[in-house]
Amino acid sequence: MAKDTPVPNTPDHVAIIMDGNGRWAQAKGRPRLFGHHAGARRVKEIVRACKDLDVKYLTIFAFSTENWKRTQSEVTGLMTLFRQYIKREAKALKAEGVCVRFIGDRLKLDKQLQKLMDELEQLTEDNDVVNLTIAINYGGRDEVARATQLMAQDVADGKLNPADVDEDTLPRYLDTHVLPDPDLVIRTSGEARISNFLLWQSAYAEYEFIDTLWPDFTKDEFNKVISKYGGRNRRFGAVPA
Ligand code: FPP
Repeated sequence: MAKDTPVPNTPDHVAIIMDGNGRWAQAKGRPRLFGHHAGARRVKEIVRACKDLDVKYLTIFAFSTENWKRTQSEVTGLMTLFRQYIKREAKALKAEGVCVRFIGDRLKLDKQLQKLMDELEQLTEDNDVVNLTIAINYGGRDEVARATQLMAQDVADGKLNPADVDEDTLPRYLDTHVLPDPDLVIRTSGEARISNFLLWQSAYAEYEFIDTLWPDFTKDEFNKVISKYGGRNRRFGAVPA
């Protein structure tokens, strides 16, 4: 298949709230986990599309700090899916030049999953074609609270002077400290909410709310969203020149 060519003004960092797996499955009379498995296949396609379009950073919301409220069987099924995904995709991700990172509070995840996450990060750390960040047990407020705790500890230890704290200080303590801020945040499934995703980092991001359910979100549709972004005029609060 022909490679898609990068569009002018390609966003450097795209973040995606992958919503609609459950409704997609239910519409087919299938269990919700069927939708999550289809969603995982779409992740693979969109990572490849980022490579083709020269989108350097892709961050995806796989499990929020609020998702623990789902039924035990859905939570267990999702955790199993994450383990399977890492085991199954590790080699290909490494070979395709994808650097994988995880954000969120991983200490609350099961030990086996944590180990797989650590190993995948180590395996792919020298890659730089696409930077894939997967948010698991992630919440924007939780991340800011954890970052603040680390920052307060540095103050207590005499490593940080409170008078020196400015808006560049907190991001150094966030899970995303090595990533640029997202340029574009996409949410699928017709919901127009940000649901606690990258709250600090998205201050100047453009948003696209797409009706398509995540398992139906093809690379062609992704390409269209990226092209549309290319035509936007981001002013970061300034007056147009
Ligand atoms: C939201 O749809 C989706 C999730 C909470 C899980 C996202 C997980 C995946 C896309 C699959 C696996 C990802 C990786 C990285 C392997 P929903 O269940 O809330 O859908 P609904 O709003 O229709 O109920």
